[in-house]
Amino acid sequence: MLSPLKRQVKALLEMLRRRRSARQLKQTQRHVRRADLVADLARLGIAPGDAVFVHSSLKSLGYVDGGAEAVVQALQEAVGPEGTVVIPTYYMPGGSIRGTCELTDYVFDVRKHGTNMGRLPETFLAGTGIHRSVHPTHSVSAWGRHATYLTEAHHRAPSVFGEGSPWQRFVGLEQAKVLGLGISMGPVTFYHVLEDALGEAFPVAIWEDQRFLLPCLDQQGQRWEVPLRPFVTNATQRRIDHPSRADLRAYFKAEFRRAGLLTEGQVGDAASWFIPARGFYDHLQQMAGKRLTIYATPEELAAYPQD
Ligand SMILES: CC(C)(COP(=O)(O)OP(=O)(O)OC[C@H]1O[C@@H](n2cnc3c(N)ncnc32)[C@H](O)[C@@H]1OP(=O)(O)O)[C@@H](O)C(=O)NCCC(=O)NCCS
Repeated sequence: MLSPLKRQVKALLEMLRRRRSARQLKQTQRHVRRADLVADLARLGIAPGDAVFVHSSLKSLGYVDGGAEAVVQALQEAVGPEGTVVIPTYYMPGGSIRGTCELTDYVFDVRKHGTNMGRLPETFLAGTGIHRSVHPTHSVSAWGRHATYLTEAHHRAPSVFGEGSPWQRFVGLEQAKVLGLGISMGPVTFYHVLEDALGEAFPVAIWEDQRFLLPCLDQQGQRWEVPLRPFVTNATQRRIDHPSRADLRAYFKAEFRRAGLLTEGQVGDAASWFIPARGFYDHLQQMAGKRLTIYATPEELAAYPQD
């Protein structure tokens, strides 16, 4: 544990680093305004009333006047008052589910803990009207029409992505879209919904046998014991978000494009995309029937070559 003084120095250095990096972007990148982002999102196909689950890279958008706040506002404006914005605000102090389960004395506190998922999630979490799920590794935040529904039951879900989790509820919403802003098809949590729905019938052995209960505190300070089961290391090391799996990311992108489910476009300067959640889920299920999963080996991919 860092002493309070060391923590303060670290925070100050981080603030200075961020300022420097933002200054540099401001001088070198095209400037993008909130209104540009709203127009680009609409052109991409994000419509009023949509529920969007957003994975993002802020710096890929160009230099956004108004920073991450402007992006959050643009997303809210794009879906409108009847829409919903959902953003992963995970806090995973151990770096992984396994690492977090091994921490002694860790109690997730939804009122206190931030997120290490990037600048947009940090900003979103600090905003107003945000509902946040109570979960020791995968806490999700939401704004808008379905925000309460999506986040209220996560701590009671039998598994991270299972019944009652934000993802499992998200699939069932009309107009639900998984949206990537400047990211590949790697860091997309949505894939895991199918795994938890299929359980042992999922075609790859991805979980450790060991299960954990991690304590969490909700908004009222009530304590919950939330179940977790780590992924086995040899699965995560060949998963679609692993740096070594550009082949799998390219395969999935081409597959969803071919299936007519992937819509691609530009938001600011960022190559962006979305996939409707129901179609995403159903297609993942079809693919899993052929062992084409986010853990597929090059040999498994080669069994179903793409033109
Ligand atoms: C890892 C990841 C967040 C990195 O993307 P990134 O753009 O470098 O980082 P952020 O989105 O946090 O944005 C911060 C960067 O924006 C840039 N930035 C700062 N002000 C900015 C502005 N006004 N306009 C545009 N960019 C700005 C800075 O370069 C900053 O980087 P710094 O922290 O080094 O200063 C991204 O690649 C990713 O994977 N996103 C998905 C995360 C996720 O949803 N994970 C869950 C599933 S596993």
